[in-house]
Amino acid sequence: PKRPLIFAIESSCDETAAAIVDGEGNLLADVVASQIDFHSRFGGVVPEIASRKHIEAICGVCEECFSVAAGNLGRTGLSWSDMDAVSVTYAPGLVGALVVGVAFAKGAAWAAGKPFIGVNHLEGHLYANKIGATDVEPPMVASLVSGGNTLLVHVRGWGDYRVLGSTIDDAVGEAFDKVAKALGLGYPGGPVISKFAAKGDPSAIAFPRAMMHSGDLRFSLSGLKTAVVSHINAERAAGREPNVPDIAASFQQAVIDVQVAKSAAALDETGAPLFCLGGGVAANPALRAAYEKMCSERSVRLIMPPLRSCGDNAGMIALVALDRYRDGRFFGLDADARARTDL
Ligand code: KG4
Repeated sequence: PKRPLIFAIESSCDETAAAIVDGEGNLLADVVASQIDFHSRFGGVVPEIASRKHIEAICGVCEECFSVAAGNLGRTGLSWSDMDAVSVTYAPGLVGALVVGVAFAKGAAWAAGKPFIGVNHLEGHLYANKIGATDVEPPMVASLVSGGNTLLVHVRGWGDYRVLGSTIDDAVGEAFDKVAKALGLGYPGGPVISKFAAKGDPSAIAFPRAMMHSGDLRFSLSGLKTAVVSHINAERAAGREPNVPDIAASFQQAVIDVQVAKSAAALDETGAPLFCLGGGVAANPALRAAYEKMCSERSVRLIMPPLRSCGDNAGMIALVALDRYRDGRFFGLDADARARTDL
């Protein structure tokens, strides 16, 4: 394989993940262990459970990562000593979850005598676009839509980011999760809402398009969530069962209309020739289709991460770390996890 070989760990929320990337940006292994089954009965991620499950999973996930990469290289085995650096997500996320990955990665880097690299999770979601298309290069506008974040970013260069706008309250994924909860559909809400939405009428209920004409690139999702909950309550009060497919489709369309309109405005403002997506919500089929339409109308190139790379994964972290390695930008072993950080 082409050097350097970079090992990456991701544990910012409810996925324990490890990946190895080579010097050409090829993912030699990309392992994700989801904890969703342990959280779904609580209707959301329970931080304490997340930390414990990361501790239980992390050794096995790293071992599997080495064994998959060795298989791909036709070798009998690989270990920390074969790596050129060890990297990890250090922020933002659940601090108790991050700490597990950070402590583990520091220990591995120290024991093997390898450089240690901390990676910003949000930057990872931007780099996830390289997994599907290795030739992706800024300038571009990116939309990061996950359970914790809703951002429009002007990527002027790798490492050179300007946040154009973000949500003033709930994140997009959070809105999907809250609407699913209100409909009794469980956690996480995104995948189940999008399945029902495919069978419903997106124009059945006129939910609000908040901040559509605010003249800036900020978002607000909490009013939409409240409107959906009020609609459900009104239906029940009138003795009707809420029409789940129509509610899901109409809610999803309200989200998509605002996301796509503001993204188009960001493209106009920056003149960027490329648009990228990232985060768990980027797996939404209707959202992806709406972006395909908007970008083709504007002759803007659209790159979206492969479906499995939209949510949290370590492959995207490894790709950021590869750039950091090339620039010689390493972290000290005194570096720590942080709940919050900007791009
Ligand atoms: O990026 P991610 O895995 O975790 C972080 O929040 O960092 O994103 C998870 C979020 C959840 O809120 C989930 O409901 C949402 O992404 N999501 C979706 C879809 N798949 C996952 N939202 C809408 N449509 C989907 N198909």
